[in-house]
Amino acid sequence: MDGTRYLKLNPDNPDPALIAGAAEVIRHGGLVAFPTETVYGLGAHGLDQEAVKRIFRVKGRPPENPLILHVASLDQARELAGTWTAAAEVLARRFLPGPLTLILPRAPVVPDVVTAGLPTVALRYPANQIALALIAASGVPIAAPSANISGRPSPTRGEHVLADLEGKIEIILDGGPTDVGVESTILSLAGEHPVLLRPGGVTREEIEEVLEQKVVVPDIVMHPQHFEAGRGGAAPSPGLFFRHYSPRAQVIMVTGSPEEQVAKVKNYLVANPGCRVGVLATSENIPAYRGLQPPPVYLAALGSRARPEEIASHLFGAFREGDARRADILLVEAVAPEGVGLAVMNRLSRASAQHEI
Ligand code: TXA
Ligand code: MG
Repeated sequence: MDGTRYLKLNPDNPDPALIAGAAEVIRHGGLVAFPTETVYGLGAHGLDQEAVKRIFRVKGRPPENPLILHVASLDQARELAGTWTAAAEVLARRFLPGPLTLILPRAPVVPDVVTAGLPTVALRYPANQIALALIAASGVPIAAPSANISGRPSPTRGEHVLADLEGKIEIILDGGPTDVGVESTILSLAGEHPVLLRPGGVTREEIEEVLEQKVVVPDIVMHPQHFEAGRGGAAPSPGLFFRHYSPRAQVIMVTGSPEEQVAKVKNYLVANPGCRVGVLATSENIPAYRGLQPPPVYLAALGSRARPEEIASHLFGAFREGDARRADILLVEAVAPEGVGLAVMNRLSRASAQHEI
């Protein structure tokens, strides 16, 4: 492989010639990073074992952690599932294409390397014109994890992918900043009850409304430390075992009411004068942090606490920016775990390993 081609595309109307070239690389076993509506993915031919193995090598990803297959139509999803359940059909009609990944029994055509040997497969039909054009032109499902080095925050801009993967993959398709900003919701429909394995842009509340039943949220999803302490039983998804989304800086979650959060951040700055502290705050609290002594090395407005979608879309970029400003500590304000706020709090609890003040 000689060098990574970095191609800028119009997200609303991607150049068919550039898409065709990238699809050719996929068909021949190469790696192409591409935008989705959630985060950037690192794609390979999903039915080609050798191509998929390269994803694991490039990311430094443990082979026990399975990948999502991305499709460009519901028919393609149905072909990859061993059983397409009634719940899958109802959810697909309501939310797909969109930020919802369904775990279903796998069809025999899906290679072991994709599912890490599990009897199930993760299927995702993304709502992004570049992703859909690439999958359709490739003519095969595309296996894709987030396009970061394992353990780093998922990339929400082409530049983030370049920083992690330059020189390691054939092509990066840059379609600008992603919309949702956190990875897709993962819902298992493979067991008796629907199980939420990762909260994301499609919310638990929306899924429960459409299915007219409760969704199980395993304890590990919001309390990863219970598993590290060996108290939780078997993990329902291999990915839940791995530390994730971490910037180099140590993340500390700031809990309490907005006023309490401001007081805690101020106290922390005063108590740690030699430390390079970044503050990631809701827009409502930003004015309270201006003019502080000692000042934070980085102050990020994540968005309004009334609109957790805004916060989700800025979180990973702010993690990376905190590292760029050489922060040692990132104090991040917690939000209510409702709607997309649940996805924000899930990423925050994992990035912080539950350190909180
Ligand atoms: O938004 C997204 O989902 C992004 C974009 C690129 O589509 N992809 C993504 O992939 O976040 P990744 O590999 O970073 O996360 C996929 C998660 C992992 O935690 C993995 O363990 C889980 O999905 N997973 C995959 N297949 C599974 C299966 N059969 N059963 C349970 N969990 C599974
Ligand atoms: Mg990932």
